[in-house]
Amino acid sequence: MAVYPVTHPLIRHKVTMLRDPKTNSKDFRDIVTELSTFLAYEATKDLPLTNITINGWQGTPIDVQIVEEKDPSIVPVFRAGIGMQEGFLKVIPTARISYIGYYRDETTLQPKNYYAKLAEDVQERRNYILDPMLATGGTTSAVCTLLREAGVKDIKVLCILAAPEGIRRVAEDHPDVDIIPAVIDSHLNERGYIIPGLGDAGDRLFGTR
Ligand code: URA
Repeated sequence: MAVYPVTHPLIRHKVTMLRDPKTNSKDFRDIVTELSTFLAYEATKDLPLTNITINGWQGTPIDVQIVEEKDPSIVPVFRAGIGMQEGFLKVIPTARISYIGYYRDETTLQPKNYYAKLAEDVQERRNYILDPMLATGGTTSAVCTLLREAGVKDIKVLCILAAPEGIRRVAEDHPDVDIIPAVIDSHLNERGYIIPGLGDAGDRLFGTR
């Protein structure tokens, strides 16, 4: 597994804006969209290029390159992952969308899947899991397992903040999955919140509490 934190100063700046409790939901959503666009660029920089020949502006053949892949599938994890969808789609507008939902079983404390509608031929596509907060890693690991069971080979996780605990969990359970966090934070508190973090990303995005 590889972790690719994005080191650009604008990423730091925008994450700082998200951490500020004075940032309202509309601005929070806009910033998450911008950050998701950056993350999508980073996550797709290994796409293979195919050489082709086209007729250029002078009417003569020129050798150029294109990305000739089946459209990827993005996997926004309910609820907060929805906030990252638009930003990713600015980079690859034709991406398929595989929605997945989990809740936490109050008895076992394990993530339980309640919704999954995967893209057609999902196993032939690159899959990008979108979830702004990689906290304990329990849900992300479960999403990876679900995708693996569907035959998916290529999985990357895009998140705004990651806790070291979550990175370790995904690395142990799914060593071949890459993680692209905007920022890696310090640790989790006793309630599973990322510290320093930004609070509940779903509530901040959608104005709930
Ligand atoms: N989910 C959130 O929204 N925030 C956290 O800090 C951890 C998980």
